[in-house]
Amino acid sequence: MISGIHLTMLLAFIQVLSIAALTNSNDYVALKALKDTWINVPPNWVGSDPCGDVWDGITCKNDRVVSITLASINLTGQLSSDISGLTELQTLDLSYNKGMTGSLPSGIGNVKKLSSLILVGCGFSGPIPPSIGSLQQLRYLSLNSNNFIGSIPPSIGNLLNLYWLDLADNKLTGTIPVSDGTSPGLDMLVNTKHFHFGKNQLSGVIPPQLFNSNLALIHLLFENNQLTGSIPSTMGLVRTLEVVRLDRNSLSGPVPSNFNNLTSVQELFLANNKLTGSLPNLTGMNLLHYVDMSNNSFDATDIPPWFSSLQSLTTLIMENTKIQGSLPVSLFSLLQLQTVTLKNNQINGTLNIGSNHSNQLQIIDLQNNLIDAFTQRAGFTVQVILVGNPICNEGGQESYCTIPQPSNNSYSTPPQNCMPSNCSSETVSSPTCKCAYPYTGTLIFRAPSFSNYRNGTIFVSLENKLMSVFKSRSLPVDSVSVSNPNRNIDNYLSLDLQVFPSGQEFFNRTAISGIGFTLSNQTFKPPPEFGPFFFIGRSYPYFQVSVEGSPSKKSSNTGVIIGAAVGGAVLLLLLIVAGVYAIRQRTRAETADRMNDPFALWDPSKNSGAVPQLKGAKAFTFEELKESTNNFSESNAIGSGGYGRVYRGTLAKGQLVAIKRAVQGSMQGRLEFKTEIELLSRVHHKNVVSLVGFCFDHGEQMLVYEFIANGTLRDSISGKSGIRLDWMRRLRIAHGAAKGIQYLHDEANPPIIHRDIKSNNILLDERLNAKVADFGLSKIMHDSERNHVTTQVKGTMGYLDPEYYMTQQLTEKSDVYSFGILMFELLTARLPIEKNKHIVRQVMSSMDKSKSMYNLQGLLDPAVASRMSTKSVEMFVDLALWCVKELGSNRPSMSEVVKEIENTMEIAGINPNAESTPSSSTYVDANKASKHPYSDESLFAYSGSYLDSSSVQPM
Ligand SMILES: *[C@@H]1O[C@H](CO)[C@@H](O)[C@H](O)[C@H]1NC(C)=O
Ligand SMILES: *[C@@H]1O[C@H](CO)[C@@H](O)[C@H](O)[C@H]1NC(C)=O
Ligand SMILES: *[C@@H]1O[C@H](CO)[C@@H](O)[C@H](O)[C@H]1NC(C)=O
Ligand SMILES: *[C@@H]1O[C@H](CO)[C@@H](O)[C@H](O)[C@H]1NC(C)=O
Repeated sequence: MISGIHLTMLLAFIQVLSIAALTNSNDYVALKALKDTWINVPPNWVGSDPCGDVWDGITCKNDRVVSITLASINLTGQLSSDISGLTELQTLDLSYNKGMTGSLPSGIGNVKKLSSLILVGCGFSGPIPPSIGSLQQLRYLSLNSNNFIGSIPPSIGNLLNLYWLDLADNKLTGTIPVSDGTSPGLDMLVNTKHFHFGKNQLSGVIPPQLFNSNLALIHLLFENNQLTGSIPSTMGLVRTLEVVRLDRNSLSGPVPSNFNNLTSVQELFLANNKLTGSLPNLTGMNLLHYVDMSNNSFDATDIPPWFSSLQSLTTLIMENTKIQGSLPVSLFSLLQLQTVTLKNNQINGTLNIGSNHSNQLQIIDLQNNLIDAFTQRAGFTVQVILVGNPICNEGGQESYCTIPQPSNNSYSTPPQNCMPSNCSSETVSSPTCKCAYPYTGTLIFRAPSFSNYRNGTIFVSLENKLMSVFKSRSLPVDSVSVSNPNRNIDNYLSLDLQVFPSGQEFFNRTAISGIGFTLSNQTFKPPPEFGPFFFIGRSYPYFQVSVEGSPSKKSSNTGVIIGAAVGGAVLLLLLIVAGVYAIRQRTRAETADRMNDPFALWDPSKNSGAVPQLKGAKAFTFEELKESTNNFSESNAIGSGGYGRVYRGTLAKGQLVAIKRAVQGSMQGRLEFKTEIELLSRVHHKNVVSLVGFCFDHGEQMLVYEFIANGTLRDSISGKSGIRLDWMRRLRIAHGAAKGIQYLHDEANPPIIHRDIKSNNILLDERLNAKVADFGLSKIMHDSERNHVTTQVKGTMGYLDPEYYMTQQLTEKSDVYSFGILMFELLTARLPIEKNKHIVRQVMSSMDKSKSMYNLQGLLDPAVASRMSTKSVEMFVDLALWCVKELGSNRPSMSEVVKEIENTMEIAGINPNAESTPSSSTYVDANKASKHPYSDESLFAYSGSYLDSSSVQPM
């Protein structure tokens, strides 16, 4: 019963943390409006903080939404013009959601930062808005496989950064726009490498102005349109072309004589047009792999010499092209040759394939020619079809005189040294023999360079490439399977793809949109033989199932246990949190989604007490952090202490973090855990370590910090880290640390007293900027306690303010005292207490103010003593002594400390405002330098772990 109540509170606590919104409110409003018109949005799209709550498919940079990727989730609805409110959006990928219909709003043109607009395989219709031409940053424009109508907007010619233009498989009409001095056109796209316009209804001639030698085009795909007129000779100027598909149009006239100037072309498709004149001379196009010029109206011609000179040829398809004469035996010895299809010609004489034909040769289809003899050798396995030739006319019973059944031995990924599992219901056995729900779809290659689909090696290389791209993007993919390669009705190679989840039976939405995006935005580059591709994914319907077996459900069970354990601490926090809720609700009333809020039952006005702002801290799930640390692997462990361990993690977006994981079931430090979340989440200063998030899930307590590269100041002072700190760097570090503490005292609201300033709690980033860390012992100063807080004494021996120790009254001046000790540490490299002597006593007993450097040379860190300037050392010592005055009221404030350090820096010749830029000479020992900051016990300096307060003897 009691644990039940606590469970509710705990859940509410987590819920409420997420209400403290980080997201820019315009972005939230725009996203909310989009969401309201969509069905099947991810279930975690609740609340008013897409960035802070990490809505599935949404990526933010700071508080701005920069990316929406929602592929293959059966998203249904329209794209409203609210999209124009997302002014920082860079990526919009809604691919493979057939239910996304309606037109593309003109307002898309206001999303000026957009660099990827990817709407592959949706149901969009209506014209492409000309406003798209104002998206100056656009690099990928993929509108293929929709129902767009109207013509290609000439304004697309203004997209000078465009790299990828895919408008294929729509219902586009009209001509291909080119510039004419007053309006723009596609000839201006000098950085675009891909024109994919196939499978539309484009008409008119291919404008000669379209091509010029400045273009960088590699893929020119105009197939399956209604283009007329002749192929312009200007195409010969685009020497970068690698794939040319002009097939299935109504092109007429001769192929320009300079066509064989396009020596980089590998795939040439001119089939199914009305081309006339002599057969194009392809001599010299030595990279040609795939040639199809079938079904044109070329003049009758003898077998051209290039038939046997194109050394890269895999596939020669020339049906119905009035070719006559007998085939040279040398054609079949081209090393790569796989397929020869020369149906419906006038090829005569004897078919002689020779003894050293290509070992890849698979099929020779010479139906309906004039062949009257065939010299066949023993053990010959190539499939030859001579139906309709004189040789078969007298009822020939030879196998080459029958049309073969389509072969069934097509490729399918085999199991990887395991027995396929017998899977139930809709699960499928993966190549690794695990039952799971795969994400499926069709990979379509528009111009592969090969035609032998029985050769498994090439598909294995495709699978390997797919796996490596998924791995490199940290997508949770166990294995992939491709199967059923075939030439589809559009004369593309299509392949079924199944992608299997790793670790569990299902993918989550983030994974699906990540996999979808990898395939929709061309991050995945198939092996070169496959050429340009697109992917059409199917909706992934298994999230629902996924929820049942997933951590979120289990975590509620664990939650009961936590609930019981956390008890009073949670209750206390709830009071605070309820207050936060009250304020956030009031200020965001216009936008916050109150309707389904379980928290609406609380009366916030009754609890509007002291209100910490829980800003920006993300609630991570246990699974997320588990994944980011590779299941908390040893190799990611970078430190340990009484409280638990610290791991290095890489978040899905690539951000490096340090994850502090409390020992499971540990009762110690729970309150400190919450203190740290509260404090760190609203503390933002360049000299203070920032909290990325936390995890309060699965009975775990974890804090996720930014990763600070260079470890603790103590490690550098002691020489342990291998980083050499000269005097200038020490002054800079003192300055940075002082500013961090000053921020906590003067700018944080309410002010924060750190209570545990020491060299182990100052971290150094890659530029050796000091960052104050570890808030486990920190105290918030509330207005009522403006001058001091009475508390149980906590801190670290040697740094502890004696006044605080004796009176138990904590003030900001206690941090000033500890900072003074830290300054002595910087001067001497000694610990505060060594050989039972306190550093302040040591200094006092050696000091003689009448002598140079106050006679302290013997105490100074020998590593730097010789290069310290006298005056700056004296000023530094004066300030440190001021900080450790016995009475707090006699000590300076942190802002005075900062000012004094700045004066000292100027005396030493350092500009306090300049960024520190350590050179590589910073490191005396590169190996030692890799020693990690979080390995220090001090990060676990929670109450009791350092000292027993009854035995503290500060001076
Ligand atoms: C073909 O390219 C060569 C340079 O490699 C050039 O001199 C020639 O003019 C081109 N031919 C045509 C017809 O464009
Ligand atoms: C084909 O082109 C090559 C090289 O450009 C040339 O040497 C050859 O004479 C041409 N053949 C015909 C039939 O025009
Ligand atoms: C094959 O056809 C060519 C041209 O049509 C002709 O010159 C030749 O004599 C024919 N050869 C045979 C063996 O019929
Ligand atoms: C997609 O969503 C619609 C409406 O929500 C639903 O009727 C349909 O079954 C879903 N399709 C799939 C494949 O999940």
